[in-house]
Amino acid sequence: MNERFCSGCKQALMRFRKVAKNSMSVENLERELRELNEKALADFAQATTSAALEELRLQYLGQKGSLSTIMRGLSNIDKADRPRIGQLANEIKQEVEGALDKQKDALYRSELDARLKDEGIDVTLPGRAISQGHLHPLTQVTEEIINIFYGMGYEVAEGPEVETDYYNFDALNTPLSHPARDEQDTFYTNIGPQVLLRSQTSTVQIRVMENKKPPLKIISPGRVYRNEEVNARKYPLFHQVEGLLIDKDVTFGQLSATLNEFIRLLFGKPLKTRLRPDFFPFTEPSAEMDSQCPFCMGSGCRTCGHRGWLELLGCGMVDPNVLQAVGIDPEEWSGFAFGMGVERLAMLKYGVTDIRNFFTNDVKFLSQF
Ligand code: DAH
Repeated sequence: MNERFCSGCKQALMRFRKVAKNSMSVENLERELRELNEKALADFAQATTSAALEELRLQYLGQKGSLSTIMRGLSNIDKADRPRIGQLANEIKQEVEGALDKQKDALYRSELDARLKDEGIDVTLPGRAISQGHLHPLTQVTEEIINIFYGMGYEVAEGPEVETDYYNFDALNTPLSHPARDEQDTFYTNIGPQVLLRSQTSTVQIRVMENKKPPLKIISPGRVYRNEEVNARKYPLFHQVEGLLIDKDVTFGQLSATLNEFIRLLFGKPLKTRLRPDFFPFTEPSAEMDSQCPFCMGSGCRTCGHRGWLELLGCGMVDPNVLQAVGIDPEEWSGFAFGMGVERLAMLKYGVTDIRNFFTNDVKFLSQF
């Protein structure tokens, strides 16, 4: 072209081509738009499923769809034609979209109708149950024990599981040389010989008496640790509930009555009990409370080893040495204390024969409670 036309002719030719192209494309565009409109409406009307309609939507209105492509082309046409063609394109787009929505609605309804006809729903079928967990049996028994004592006016007090030998032994009238220390095989920590995992919840007695003035009525549930070999009755971790009452003129009779009432409420029936003399360094006198076996009511069975009696807990009158060590005057105040193993009580209450069941946490076992 460069060789055959002068520059003036060349410019004139280019102007002509542009005008020709423009007028052609405007006409074409208008025609294309109207054809597309008609075709889209016809196609939509023929779509018989939502999926087919969605394909058509993409084909006409999607980002790469034909209407979008035409609309992008609008920027190439002459400015003078743009408003008219633009308006036409918008009207067509609205019409196409309106038709699409209408058909979408119609198909949704007919598809829903078809499903409702096809898919029968039997509302009488039982639902699928969602199994719900519950509190661990040891937690349940602990809560029961707490509730019983709460009803008698006791408050709950808690103490640390990592203790010093002062609270676990010395303050409980069990100095280093005391043979009772050997009875409770203690876990010591590598922090030092004075720091250990508490072997009894009696520690909390001391912590409470140090901080509060009598009269006092507390129970203290919690974990304790003893370095013992595992078997059906022993586990190195177990739970205790400690009880302490400090008041004026407290008697052994009150201790006995309190514990009898507790056992009646825990087992849900009156059971005969007996107090056997025993030894604990922090109580004087000390006793072990036995109850009539709740399974055979005393006639002898496997659970009670055919003795008719079961050991339930340790108890006694608080030793004056213990009161003195925490600054309570034993001439003015006296008290009783008791301590029980939660696993043992749970085993007796539910007839569980192996303590390990509480810790292996087999759902088949746990779901019985
Ligand atoms: N602490 C004792 C133990 O672990 C149980 C006990 C006995 C607690 C007598 C007491 C008590 O408060 O008076 O074996």
